[in-house]
Amino acid sequence: MFWLYIIGFLVALLVIGVAIYLLTPRSYDSSNTVANSYDEWTEDGILEFYWGEHIHLGHYGSPPRRKDFLKAKADFVHEMVRWGGLDKLPAGTTVLDVGCGFGGSSRIMAQNYGFQATGITLSPKQAQRANDLTPEGVTAKFMVNDALDMSFPDNSFDVVWSVEAGPHMPDKMKYAEEMMRVLKPGGILVVADWNQRDDRRVPLNWWEKPVMRQLLDQWSHPSFSSIERFSEQIAETGLVDGEVVTADWTKETLPSWLESIWQGIVRPKGLIKFGFSGFIKSLREVPTMLLMRVAFGAGLCRFGMFRAVKKSTINSVDEARTGETVNA
Ligand SMILES: C[S@@+](CC[C@H](N)C(=O)[O-])C[C@H]1O[C@@H](n2cnc3c(N)ncnc32)[C@H](O)[C@@H]1O
Repeated sequence: MFWLYIIGFLVALLVIGVAIYLLTPRSYDSSNTVANSYDEWTEDGILEFYWGEHIHLGHYGSPPRRKDFLKAKADFVHEMVRWGGLDKLPAGTTVLDVGCGFGGSSRIMAQNYGFQATGITLSPKQAQRANDLTPEGVTAKFMVNDALDMSFPDNSFDVVWSVEAGPHMPDKMKYAEEMMRVLKPGGILVVADWNQRDDRRVPLNWWEKPVMRQLLDQWSHPSFSSIERFSEQIAETGLVDGEVVTADWTKETLPSWLESIWQGIVRPKGLIKFGFSGFIKSLREVPTMLLMRVAFGAGLCRFGMFRAVKKSTINSVDEARTGETVNA
């Protein structure tokens, strides 16, 4: 009987969440939508309270096993460092963290690997918060900069790193070009992103289309790429030495979605901290998290990993395009 009440209560909460979700539609408009959304999510503190300093999925191992929600997120960063071969790089390696969020990845790379990290985000409040969260002496700094038009000169960083920022980019080719442009010759690009399945041969079907539409509109996403298409675009910059290496970490990251919802239940302190409006805001995100779980579980979405090394003889995207090397 007790469990029936609990299940009934949870179903009622879900129904309320769906109602709020339906009554407060959202859509992506421009990069301002992204900046404003993250400013708002930083200011209210709810995202940071539940997701911690990492606004990305956790890594639960292969095969996935039960793990603390926040530990899985930190583990994700270490797994990505190892997958990218960054653990073999010396202390002092310079890293650009594109779409840095609250800077969790950059701080781990600075503190655990001795790297010098620079993080960029579109949200001024997020950049400020990332700097505030960084203790004195940790070699990580954060600023506002647009990934599609970065202020850094060509060939600036040993490593370019980006986690779950790609779906916010309206121009994926420019995103790839800019990251490869600021990478030093011989440097390593490592990217982790939400993708949709490659729909070039088999278009999205009757249920995939509306679900994808919701996933885009809800969290300021103009479009998801596919693992296949984005790896082609990285190669099309003409700056890659050899192959773009990819991997699919959908299984390793999948538990994150239901865990995110579970956090709301097992950490009732959030209710006291953020009050009724915080409760309503959190409840509103539940349908999107469930849709994400469905989409990643059913193969509509895939968690893509990308690694590329920059050619050591071509210095700019323009040179790669024209085939003329200025500094031979
Ligand atoms: C889902 S969060 C991921 C944050 C961080 N990588 C992490 O894993 O914690 C996406 C981030 O991408 C940033 N972003 C989106 N579009 C951007 C752009 N054009 N230039 C710079 N940052 C951008 C957002 O501001 C946000 O910090």
